[in-house]
Amino acid sequence: MFESLKEQPADKILALMQAYKEDPREQKIDLGVGVYKDASGNTPIMRAIKAAEKQLWDKEQTKAYTGLAGDPAYGDAMVSLVLGDAVPRANVAAAATPGGTGAVRQAFDLIKMANPSAKVHVSDPTWPNHLSILKHMQVETVMYRYFDNDTRGVDFDGMMADLEKADAGDVVLVHGCCHNPTGANLNMVQWKELVALLNRKGLIPMVDIAYQGFGDGLEEDAQAVRLIASSCPETLIAASCSKNFGIYRERTGLLMTVANEGGNQKLNQGTLNYLNRQNYSFPPDHGARLVTMVLSDPALRADWAAELEEVRLSMLGLREQLASELQRLSGSDRFGFIAQHRGMFSRLGASPEQVEKMRADSGIYMVGDSRLNIAGLNKTTVPILAKAIIDAGV
Ligand code: LMR
Repeated sequence: MFESLKEQPADKILALMQAYKEDPREQKIDLGVGVYKDASGNTPIMRAIKAAEKQLWDKEQTKAYTGLAGDPAYGDAMVSLVLGDAVPRANVAAAATPGGTGAVRQAFDLIKMANPSAKVHVSDPTWPNHLSILKHMQVETVMYRYFDNDTRGVDFDGMMADLEKADAGDVVLVHGCCHNPTGANLNMVQWKELVALLNRKGLIPMVDIAYQGFGDGLEEDAQAVRLIASSCPETLIAASCSKNFGIYRERTGLLMTVANEGGNQKLNQGTLNYLNRQNYSFPPDHGARLVTMVLSDPALRADWAAELEEVRLSMLGLREQLASELQRLSGSDRFGFIAQHRGMFSRLGASPEQVEKMRADSGIYMVGDSRLNIAGLNKTTVPILAKAIIDAGV
């Protein structure tokens, strides 16, 4: 049996992580995988998470199973973090999943169960794993225009024109904030226009929100998903706690369905539970429990929100430093988009050859499509990157 297995394509982001590790040069800069790093290059455990872990170690009495959807308190805390009071809680079904990727995968499974002929429309570009999972699951995928390589902003007219061609019942996958890989995002006026199009054409939004708090702030970053969830009859939402709680390896995510009109919340919840049972039975609990503790304890929550804000502002500061360094070196404003983009990533718009040149000459590792992880920089490495970008002829 095993001899019939075929080599699978390596994930580009994970392959890059490996190549960076194997590079013997001392002077090298990792701008690859989306992991936050502080000024000394460490990915710290957030203070509130560490404090919750200590409490948990003292107080936890059992490791018995929770429920198929995870601990209901986790679902409540996360629904409230993501959706606020945009929709009645009774309209939302939620299940804990292993990471945001688990939620994405379960969402695609649900789409396949509910409507096997639905196509999923994704932005061009999108997170490569969206495409990889959709392909693996044999879900028909259509790309809509998204990134304008000239302005490095959103090609909103192109996006709307492409979605105009989608069929009723199709699913449109959007990034709730901090678009990965480009860093270019819709503004609220554009989100409203998109919602009107979705509703007019009977399209179902699926929102992937993995960076809440990394863009313009915890509440600001949730504005789009709240608008969608409260304005569309049905919405799927995949949320991740990996980045904003810094608990990457704990695999903590949540899949939500929102049904505002005639939806059967009980049926939706039962489906989410069923899907968890089929794929991995009970979802992991440790990270979810820490998140619940942090969100429900006012002191821990305030400390977490303050530290998240420090992280957000430090990335914003690096964006501004890089944009102004590039302005100085190039004598032009053409890199101003770096300060406009939000979240962990920016797509530079460099060619694969230029990306390769930066790697070979300066030990700078960014994804082949020229996505760079802003959090991989610090004040000292920004000028090195800026010089490499200019030297590569970007
Ligand atoms: C990324 O895009 O780098 C992150 O979401 C990590 C991953 O799993 O790809």
